[in-house]
Amino acid sequence: MPLIFDIITIFPEMFAGVLSESIIARAIKAGKIEVRFTNPRDFTKDRHKKVDDKPYGGGPGMVFMPEPIFLAVEQVERQATIAAAEKTRRILLTPQGQPLTQKVLRQLSQAEWIILLCGHYEGFDERVIQGLQFEEISIGDYVLTGGEIPAMVIIDGVTRLLPGVLGNDSSNRGDSFEEGLLEFPQYTRPPEFRGMKVPEVLLSGNHQEIARWREEEAIRRTRKRRADLLEKEGSREKPERNRSKLLGR
Ligand code: ADE
Repeated sequence: MPLIFDIITIFPEMFAGVLSESIIARAIKAGKIEVRFTNPRDFTKDRHKKVDDKPYGGGPGMVFMPEPIFLAVEQVERQATIAAAEKTRRILLTPQGQPLTQKVLRQLSQAEWIILLCGHYEGFDERVIQGLQFEEISIGDYVLTGGEIPAMVIIDGVTRLLPGVLGNDSSNRGDSFEEGLLEFPQYTRPPEFRGMKVPEVLLSGNHQEIARWREEEAIRRTRKRRADLLEKEGSREKPERNRSKLLGR
């Protein structure tokens, strides 16, 4: 059974490129995921298909009115039989949400049905948040024009974790963050390019030495660029060889 993404958005066309290329397109073809769209504009009752209005109390921007959003969500949820409640995630994309991390993506990849509600303008009428009780997720501490790109980030990040989506099922294991560390440097042919050489150890064929070099480089790079990650749980759960030395402790 594919993992189903139901996207609630007034801009479904924005997703076309992401869904029609590369790994995500293959995952759809292979039946690993299915992506469907519901447009709140189809649930408006006026001639202009108006989904937003000025904020009460004044101020810039427009606010999503509750009714078209509720009707769109209710239409989607009428198909609730497709997954058990504990296999369903209902997510509203907003800069006010919980930060998205690799751990959150891993949890989401266990779901069978993910509903993604994309905001726009100055956000939703608060009664959308209050009434629907979706979990709120932010993809980072910055503000985008809407929740569509964040929804695509979730689709992409979750899909590549599904069994059989990446060519080799272990190919996401060394990913940055999976072990609480950034990724080690990678090289391919040629062995020398414009005077820059591939580290000797990688050409040595000594797999133990290669593994040790990679681990050291991952820790070195993480300490230099993202020391905050080393302080987090997960990076300390597995006290690897040399780690305390590399950490300078
Ligand atoms: N909508 C606008 N900015 C966003 C962000 N950073 N994360 C999630 N949704 C958003």
